[in-house]
Amino acid sequence: MSEELIVARGLTKKFGDFTAVDGIDFSVMRGESFGLLGPNGAGKSTTMRIIGATSQRTGGEITILGKDPEKFGPQIRAHLGVVPQKDNLDEQLTVTQNLYIYGRYFGLSNKFIKGKIEELLEFAQLEEKRDAKVDSLSGGMKRRLTIARALVSEPEILMLDEPTTGLDPQARHILWDRLFRLKEKGVTLVITTHFMDEAEQLCERLIVIDRGKIMAEGSPADLIKRYSSKEVLELRFGSENNEAVADKLRDKCERLEVLPDRVLLYSEDAEHVLEEIVRSGLQPKTSLVRRSSLEDVFLRLTGRTLIE
Ligand SMILES: Nc1ncnc2c1ncn2[C@@H]1O[C@H](COP(=O)(O)OP(=O)(O)OP(=O)(O)O)[C@@H](O)[C@H]1O
Ligand SMILES: [Mg+2]
Repeated sequence: MSEELIVARGLTKKFGDFTAVDGIDFSVMRGESFGLLGPNGAGKSTTMRIIGATSQRTGGEITILGKDPEKFGPQIRAHLGVVPQKDNLDEQLTVTQNLYIYGRYFGLSNKFIKGKIEELLEFAQLEEKRDAKVDSLSGGMKRRLTIARALVSEPEILMLDEPTTGLDPQARHILWDRLFRLKEKGVTLVITTHFMDEAEQLCERLIVIDRGKIMAEGSPADLIKRYSSKEVLELRFGSENNEAVADKLRDKCERLEVLPDRVLLYSEDAEHVLEEIVRSGLQPKTSLVRRSSLEDVFLRLTGRTLIE
């Protein structure tokens, strides 16, 4: 039986007159990796802080592990590992000192923490940096240390707010690999991201949020099936007016989106569409055939692209 670890109904957060989270419903099941995907300002971190029992909702209901965070904050926090959007490590302390102090904060025994530190240093590939001060670490290392720190107390749920923002591709892949391993061990992951590829790689199920509202929910594959076509043809026409060109392309595909720098044509067979276009005498400067992604889902749902 799947067990709901987090249940939100009509969850709302207002700051004065401004509604940052606008009546959202979602559930997170035990053992799954659940994503909140959305652009800057969508309300992802605000939602994460409410789940983490460090910020109070202003409306709706939420339970975490069956408990209301307004009444059982400390009990809930004891079962959560939190990786905030901005690293809040103690820069003047060493890697192991950071892990140790956090463990003490959770009231764990010396012996337990010491064993755990060895395990986590290996997990985070930071063994060689164990005595280095945090301010000497790279961004990727700091991120891995923050995750290691969140795991000291063996949480049931690990909350990761933009785990790889600012990291280079290699550092991102190392992190993704570590998160896969945690999931295999049964840790429930709640991840926010504005990277489509990250959401596709890491999240089994996700909500797409924009301006505090849920636009869609499902697995990445489901969402792509529901809101996009199998393939996309991206065309660039150089100096020509894209809107004018688009009018000539509309009947050649299922759907079309005009962006400032390119035109996207949605269909089941993008190569075929390209052949048709070339045959009709139009000459795009560049063409690219690719499969649909969550980026296309977001564009369909909001009319905007989700690029930093
Ligand atoms: N303490 C606060 N006081 C007032 N407004 C706030 C506060 N915290 C967040 N907001 C506003 O709420 C909205 C949602 O912010 P939030 O940080 O949750 O977005 P986000 O999806 O995490 O964005 P990002 O991708 O930039 O991290 C934003 O418009 C933000 O300015
Ligand atoms: Mg945020």
